[in-house]
Amino acid sequence: MPDPQDALPVVAGSANCLVVDDEPGVRRSLVRMLQAQGFTCYQAASGLEALRVLEQIGDTPLVVSDMRMPELDGIGLLEAVRRAYPDTSVIMLSGMSETTIAVDCLHRGAADFLLKPISMNELQARVARALEKRTLVLENRFHQENLERRVHEQAQRIQELFLQGVQMLARALEAKDAYTRGHSIRVSQYAVATAERLGFGTNGLDSIRLGGELHDIGKIGTREAVLHKEGSLTADEFRQISEHPALGERMLSPLAHESPAVLRIVRSHHERLDGQGFPDGLRGEGIPIEARIVAVADTFDAITTRRPYRDSRSPEEAIGELRRVAGTQLEPAAVEAFVEAFPNPKSLPLSA
Ligand SMILES: [Fe+2]
Repeated sequence: MPDPQDALPVVAGSANCLVVDDEPGVRRSLVRMLQAQGFTCYQAASGLEALRVLEQIGDTPLVVSDMRMPELDGIGLLEAVRRAYPDTSVIMLSGMSETTIAVDCLHRGAADFLLKPISMNELQARVARALEKRTLVLENRFHQENLERRVHEQAQRIQELFLQGVQMLARALEAKDAYTRGHSIRVSQYAVATAERLGFGTNGLDSIRLGGELHDIGKIGTREAVLHKEGSLTADEFRQISEHPALGERMLSPLAHESPAVLRIVRSHHERLDGQGFPDGLRGEGIPIEARIVAVADTFDAITTRRPYRDSRSPEEAIGELRRVAGTQLEPAAVEAFVEAFPNPKSLPLSA
């Protein structure tokens, strides 16, 4: 640590200041003025020495530097300080009253530019102004960062609360209906296991888990008489039920930014590879892969659970059916991944 030499602090705990000038007399004079303002002053006779001192003394809000010096001149020092210590204010001094020099210094990030000889009042006023500006910039940045963090935290919390709300809604919707109780959770589990087989990473699996849980949330907009109808649906009833993917997507639109794959699943889980599905009649790879996976899980669960219009079938029969419609309705790779994920269909978490 370099000695502050004859520059002992005037105010305990005061801020550091580095005075850089190759003339010892000028340095002493500047140090006296800055000490009188309350700074702990350090000195350097060249730009290079100044950089060494800065490295050792740590946080230094202010550097006051001459322009013409040996080794590294004022401009070189200014640039080096701006790069390494962007929060340090640099005031440049010069004996030459050339506007271009002053403009150049300010352009390169100097806080101010003063002409020698300098009076104490003028130096102290310019230093006070430079440091006030520095404080404002730092405070502004702190508030900005703090605000951004708080906004981010609140946005996350709002999303969590929204998600909890729709998950509760999805469960409440199923709980009313003995036929579909537990359907979404099972679809979610089947789809995640299938996606794991297909090599999905953590983020993709999280989307599929949530998308599986919420895929039928739009059914809240379908009349119960249609949902629970025994026997075949009329064209109008089919139209009503086929609106649930798009309605679900609209309900979940607050997740669009953070979890777009969840919305893709909800919208496209009734699409078919042959383009005969709904709501968009997408074909083959035009159907999002996450939705193709959930479609396999959804179809399997629908076959193995009892519905108002038919009895349940065994897991073995259901797998036979999945394979039969692979390539026309369902994605063959997803069907095989599902079968691999559950080699023993009897162990599946089926409802009674
Ligand atoms: Fe559905």
